[in-house]
Amino acid sequence: MAAIVVLFCTLIFSSLSFFGNALSSNYYDKTCPNAEEAITNAVKNAINNDQTVPAALLRMHFHDCFIRGCDASVLLKSVGKNTAEKDGPPNISLHAFYVIDNAKKAVEDLCPGVVSCADILALAARDAVALSGGPTWDVPKGRLDGRVSKATETRSLPAPTFNISQLQQSFSQRGLSMKDLVALSGGHTLGFSHCSSFQSRIHNFNATFDVDPTMHPAFAASLKSICPLHNKAKNAGATMDPSTAIFDNTYFKLLLQGRSLFSSDQSLLTTTKTKALVSKFASSQEAFADAFVKSMIKMSSLNGGQEVRLDCKVVN
Ligand code: HEM
Ligand SMILES: *[C@@H]1O[C@H](CO)[C@@H](O)[C@H](O)[C@H]1NC(C)=O
Ligand SMILES: *[C@@H]1O[C@H](CO)[C@@H](O)[C@H](O)[C@H]1NC(C)=O
Ligand SMILES: *[C@@H]1O[C@H](CO)[C@@H](O)[C@H](O)[C@H]1NC(C)=O
Repeated sequence: MAAIVVLFCTLIFSSLSFFGNALSSNYYDKTCPNAEEAITNAVKNAINNDQTVPAALLRMHFHDCFIRGCDASVLLKSVGKNTAEKDGPPNISLHAFYVIDNAKKAVEDLCPGVVSCADILALAARDAVALSGGPTWDVPKGRLDGRVSKATETRSLPAPTFNISQLQQSFSQRGLSMKDLVALSGGHTLGFSHCSSFQSRIHNFNATFDVDPTMHPAFAASLKSICPLHNKAKNAGATMDPSTAIFDNTYFKLLLQGRSLFSSDQSLLTTTKTKALVSKFASSQEAFADAFVKSMIKMSSLNGGQEVRLDCKVVN
């Protein structure tokens, strides 16, 4: 019996290692004990000069993990004929790459060739949340950096037009549940969206309605004034949670009022199960924080790299 259990566990663990290295909290304790502090300082310095940095780092980590696992493929630059992820379609919203480069420089000065870019990004995303007033957590480490980044693969990211079944599929392909989907969508408490990401909800929505009828009318009207039909202002858009720059559960409160920007946000209200989670997170900051942390650790444990990159922008 015991032998069967052992065999079974071995099978489970060997299939998990398909996702890459086993991660651990104390991974750099001997090889680079001050890495986390150096990364936190780089993130802090950047935020002091630019309030948009936390949202940028959180989204960058999410994109990284959703394409080839969290392997820093999002940081690679285009080389020769290969167009990298960062130059692919949703590139308009990715920014603040310099923060990771600064953190990497600081860490390389301490312990050259030891700390992966994928770990630096996972830690920087955690710091971004914590420094914005959100929860903090211990990040399991030991990710390796990948050697491939293709712009065409950004097509596999979930789109803001997705309905609940499309979102469920996108998340379950990465081993993430409906609860992870709802909790992680709370990341939209930070940051900014360009008009193009919600334009189809506020103009010519469908044959019956010009504006998505699930949107609060005054909210839709304010978005229409920022984002007219023939919008020429490339950088126009809206803050996703305009009430605060703090990482909190306001996103879920706004969602219940019809004040979310994307169809993908709104679609969280279209199944009983996900709607119940939205209500729970809207009424309890603590329930949201707990769930968000668990889901971040789960998402950020997807891995698939091969090396510790020396420069986060190029493979070794
Ligand atoms: C559920 C599927 C998701 C969809 C469809 C989605 C879609 C989007 C879109 C369209 C934008 C705006 C891009 C722009 O116009 O500039 C955005 C921004 C953002 N997303 Fe998501 N997202 C999803 C999940 C997540 C997750 C899991 C996180 C992190 C936990 C996240 C964090 C962010 C942040 C922080 C921003 C703001 C970025 C900035 O201000 O620079 N999103 N998202
Ligand atoms: C972003 O991607 C588009 C293709 O969707 C491309 O035309 C554009 O040059 C890219 N922009 C940057 C800054 O890489
Ligand atoms: C979601 O969209 C897909 C593709 O358009 C469609 O096949 C599916 O029926 C939709 N699901 C729901 C629940 O609306
Ligand atoms: C337009 O959208 C609304 C709300 O989603 C829906 O009830 C209605 O059936 C749609 N109408 C058409 C013609 O697609």
